[in-house]
Amino acid sequence: MKILIIGSGGREHTLAWKARQSSRCDYLYVAPGNAGTASLAEDVDIAVDDFEKLKQFIISKQIEMVIVGPEAPLVGGIREYLLADANLRNLMIIGPGKVGAQLEGSKDFAKQFMNRHRIPTAGSRTFTRDTLEEARNYLQTTNLPTVLKADGLAAGKGVIICHDRQEAIATIEKMLSDRMFGPASDTVVIEDFLAGIELSVFVLSDGNSYKILPEAKDYKTIGENNSGPNTGGMGSVSPVAFADKVFMEKVEQRIIKPTIKGLQEDGIEYKGFIFIGLMNVGGEPFVIEYNVRMGDPETEVVMPRIKTDLLDLMEATALGNLDKINLEIDPQAAATVVMVAGGYPGDYKKGDEIHGLLTADKTSLIFHAGTRMTNGKVLTNGGRVLTVTGFGNTVQAALNQSYSGVAAIHWKDVYFRKDIGQDLLALE
Ligand code: AMP
Ligand code: GLY
Repeated sequence: MKILIIGSGGREHTLAWKARQSSRCDYLYVAPGNAGTASLAEDVDIAVDDFEKLKQFIISKQIEMVIVGPEAPLVGGIREYLLADANLRNLMIIGPGKVGAQLEGSKDFAKQFMNRHRIPTAGSRTFTRDTLEEARNYLQTTNLPTVLKADGLAAGKGVIICHDRQEAIATIEKMLSDRMFGPASDTVVIEDFLAGIELSVFVLSDGNSYKILPEAKDYKTIGENNSGPNTGGMGSVSPVAFADKVFMEKVEQRIIKPTIKGLQEDGIEYKGFIFIGLMNVGGEPFVIEYNVRMGDPETEVVMPRIKTDLLDLMEATALGNLDKINLEIDPQAAATVVMVAGGYPGDYKKGDEIHGLLTADKTSLIFHAGTRMTNGKVLTNGGRVLTVTGFGNTVQAALNQSYSGVAAIHWKDVYFRKDIGQDLLALE
């Protein structure tokens, strides 16, 4: 099979690594990819939003399957764009169409969807610039903290948790009047704060049936113990001890089944990953958000735990045969630590040479995120530079393996969190 993976992060490197293990993988391309994907596949210099160039490439190389990594091209309608071409009628695409992608592309759409299908989520109200006065009044009455969410895509920065009423009112003014997040905050969802512990649940949907992939926990803040600003993710662990049979049964009955059924009832054909961000509130699951793709860095621990051939799984997703697939999960634990450029998520430097990759490679799995190869040297090329995944019989053993890989890798001003997984170990 000839496959194209769209994206350039650790998620896409991991998907490429997993696809490569399939005997059915004849040609693998990644657009635009990074120095890591280049070692497994052919990197193609086309941006994820250049639909026309991607389409011409897919036609010229006779690609049979496209796996879309990030959300932006899905929200932008890449599925419809490609399938509209008569040459691509049989193309298998992993990722929903434009309407399904609104589950991530619009917080208000997702809220309406959950309320319509009685899926547990925080109470909320939606406001626009025209209803700013009502929003101000509403914020005089809400419990604190209160959560303000830009409706549209805001590169993971669009959620602001306010602990003070005046701060909340000033923030909604900035979002709605001053367009703090551009058009993404022309509509704002004000949501009740949920206190609990977060979990990332991944579901593969073929439009009719579904498979639940291994769950994971992500560590979002730059600093240890949940301190400092949010990042794209600083590490992750799978499995997650509190996501036991009882909890996951609640997730499946109350959230996953109604989500799949809701999509069908709404006439939305959904073939792809659904990433459900949950809050475990005293043992009860509530949806914080939907994403229409895999998580990053969750993919780096989820994919290594899947034993089933990725291409069999992806083909069944595209063709509507997921019910015929036996999804085999490795009971071992996986942990990943993200190594970032000093200064991230603020300003940071690019172009520093990365040392120690070959040593770390012997003990751990290295997935590149922001790297590039120049004159045989691997250089930093982003904030999140690479992730190091370890495996073991326990979460602790997986963390040990990951951190031993991390210890072998260095570059100027490298930073990583040393407490990945510690909160889960404390719960055990
Ligand atoms: P999102 O961009 O929707 O993933 O939100 C970013 C982060 O904000 C989440 O990972 C949570 O940590 C936090 N968050 C979002 N919504 C809520 C909520 N209703 N209650 C508490 N925390 C929230
Ligand atoms: N790790 C969170 C995300 O991918 O959105």
